[in-house]
Amino acid sequence: MKVHIFKVSSFFIKNLCYVVFKNNKAVLVDPAWNFSLINQFLIDNQLSLVAIVLTHAHFDHTHLAKKISKRYDVPVLMSGAEIDFYKFNCVNLERVEHLRDISFTDFTITPLLTPGHTFGSTCYLIEEHLFTGDTIFTEGVGMCNGKGSSAENLFDSVQFLKSYLSPATFFWPGHSFGQLPGKTLEFLLKNNIYFQFVKRDQFVQFRMRKNQSGPFNFS
Ligand SMILES: [Fe+2]
Repeated sequence: MKVHIFKVSSFFIKNLCYVVFKNNKAVLVDPAWNFSLINQFLIDNQLSLVAIVLTHAHFDHTHLAKKISKRYDVPVLMSGAEIDFYKFNCVNLERVEHLRDISFTDFTITPLLTPGHTFGSTCYLIEEHLFTGDTIFTEGVGMCNGKGSSAENLFDSVQFLKSYLSPATFFWPGHSFGQLPGKTLEFLLKNNIYFQFVKRDQFVQFRMRKNQSGPFNFS
């Protein structure tokens, strides 16, 4: 299985979206901003799209879901919790639930519900690759200041990922703040400070501390 990274942007917002492919079947993760870049890659590599997965409902992760789903007539997956809480709507939208696998011919996708950044944020595990949206970044974790956010829940989500995943799992976040994506859990356990906390209240205090640089301070 291969993972291809699209670095896309709209003004000051920079996102990483991904296409995962195997035997010419492909899954898109959080497609946004640059339709022709993504579409041309599918065409050039003769990939047949089978699904779009969305980690959460924020616009910078969902922007192209409708357009691409319409064109290729493929399902758009999002957690039921996220759909209900934010009243998210899209053509071909399908609800996924925690640890309930979705199987296509060449892929099994395991949704891991990891609330915190948003009410129903979801990471998707495809073989040894985890797509984390704004839940986990190589350098940190997502902001917890929005509607439906909870730093307490995010602590629990980090603990869940630590216990559930193999240390060899590759993490593919929705943004980069300097580091290349695709680091392993083993790397994050050593280098991401949010993986160090063992007490929920200390994690919450640190996540919610004042005077942080903004969420769009990409380097
Ligand atoms: Fe987000």
